Order: sequence, then C-alpha cells, then structure tokens
Amino acid sequence: MEKLDLFLEGRTKRLYRTDNENFLILEFKDNATAFDGQKKGKIEGKGAINNQISSHLFKYLESHHVATHFDRSVSPTEMLVKKVEIIPIEVVVRNVVSGRMVTLYGWKEGEELKCPVVEYYLKDNSLSDPMINESHVMAFELAEAEEVKALNRIARKVNVILRPFFDRRELLLVDFKLEFGRHKNYLLVADEISPDTCRIWDKKSKKKLDRDRFRKDMGGVKDAYQEVLTRIVGAESSQSVIT
Ligand SMILES: Nc1ncnc2c1ncn2[C@@H]1O[C@H](COP(=O)(O)OP(=O)(O)OP(=O)(O)O)[C@@H](O)[C@H]1O
Ligand SMILES: [Mg+2]
Repeated sequence: MEKLDLFLEGRTKRLYRTDNENFLILEFKDNATAFDGQKKGKIEGKGAINNQISSHLFKYLESHHVATHFDRSVSPTEMLVKKVEIIPIEVVVRNVVSGRMVTLYGWKEGEELKCPVVEYYLKDNSLSDPMINESHVMAFELAEAEEVKALNRIARKVNVILRPFFDRRELLLVDFKLEFGRHKNYLLVADEISPDTCRIWDKKSKKKLDRDRFRKDMGGVKDAYQEVLTRIVGAESSQSVIT
C-alpha cells in the first residue's frame, strides 16, 4: 500500500490517502490537547504508544466480532484503516463517575455506576461538542434510526468486551469515547481507542493513567500511557498469556 498525500489533519492524528481509495493511513502525532484545543502540548513518544494501544484494542475487538476500521499496523506510529464517512456523533460509555458527570450532576468522582451510561455528543469542535440525545440525532438527521440503535448496541458491546479485558490487567475502564463511520453498507468503529479517548485507572490505587494527567497538569503522562501499553501487550509476551 503506497502512502500518498494528506487527506485530513486533526489535533492528534493525520490521515493520508493511499493508492487504494478504500484505505487511509492513520498517523498518531505526539501532540496533546485538552479543553477544546485551548491547552496544547507535546509528549514525545505518545503517538507510537497510542498507535500500539489502539491497534491492539481494535484487533481484540475484531476477534470478538466487533467490526472496526483497523486493517493492520504499518509503522510504529501508523495503521492502515478503512476509509469511512464519519457519523458526527461521539458515543461515550461510562462505568464510573468522572469528568462531566462530576461537573454536570455533582456526583462523586470514583463512584461505580449501577449500570453503564451511554451518552451522545455532537461532533462539532466549533460548538465544543455539546451533549445531545436520540431525538436530536433524528431531528437533525445525523444518523438513521437503525444506525442510532446500532451505535448504542455496539458501544455497549465494546464495553462488555473491554471492561473485563482491562480488569484482568488490574486496570479500571472508567469511561471511553467511540466514533463510528459508514463504510460500504456497514458501520465500523473508527478513529482511536487509547488513553487519549478513555479514562483508565489503576484498579487498586485509582491512579489516573490517561489524558486527565495532561488536562490536570499531573505530570508523568508518557509513563502512564506506557504503563497501560505494557499491561495490555507486555502481559502477552510473558509465559502466562492473559486474554
Ligand atoms: N477511518 C477513518 N476514515 C475517515 N476519517 C476518520 C477515520 N478515522 C478517524 N477519522 C477522522 O479523522 C480525524 C482524526 O483527527 P483528530 O482526532 O486528530 O481530529 P481532532 O482535532 O480531534 O478533531 P475531531 O473533533 O474531528 O476528532 C477525526 O476527525 C476523525 O473523525
Ligand atoms: Mg479526534
């Protein structure tokens, strides 16, 4: 697959066209951003770590019959993905109270939710990704009714698969954000799944191992991301394979 010109550049990733119109090369940058891009930074090596974490999680999801845009890794910071038409909805799944749940509802950070909460946000940076519900999706024709059902079902399925995956690695999957895209006639989980888009805590100490370290100036961002990668991938190179 030949890498051609830049198709799209965002804050943390670049997408390149390839000689096959159905595929793009997705490159993870070292840039870190928070608060709608108002806070910016660079964390040397983050791109490569996120590429490996994301690739591993996409492969794991594929092995559990969740269709994703991932095709294969092509370099330390790049993966080959199917080109999709992104649905302008960010789907968030929460298992534990954190982030907006604290600021919006006054709930206590760290409290485990009785059941997972699925939220939708309009993917529009100029509006700071406002929260929306299913009727907004229908009223603004952001997706078909069947698609919304599928987004919800797939997001919950991803949670059912990833939560125990992290738990076996002594990690707590607090929440995560998914993007979906249309490819040919089906829906794929697209974008990335990494400590930039998930909240991941150490199960016992509750140490934050995700982008909140950057948001809150806690330091040790790269070490935290590396820790997640080591627990995800490292475990498999040892004798006792954790699945
Ligand atoms: N397989 C894919 N095909 C087409 N576009 C994709 C695919 N995977 C991800 N994207 C899009 O590529 C962009 C990745 O860039 P990045 O995440 O850095 O952008 P961003 O600055 O966060 O802005 P955005 O709010 O659009 O995500 C996103 O807009 C994402 O929706
Ligand atoms: Mg993005």
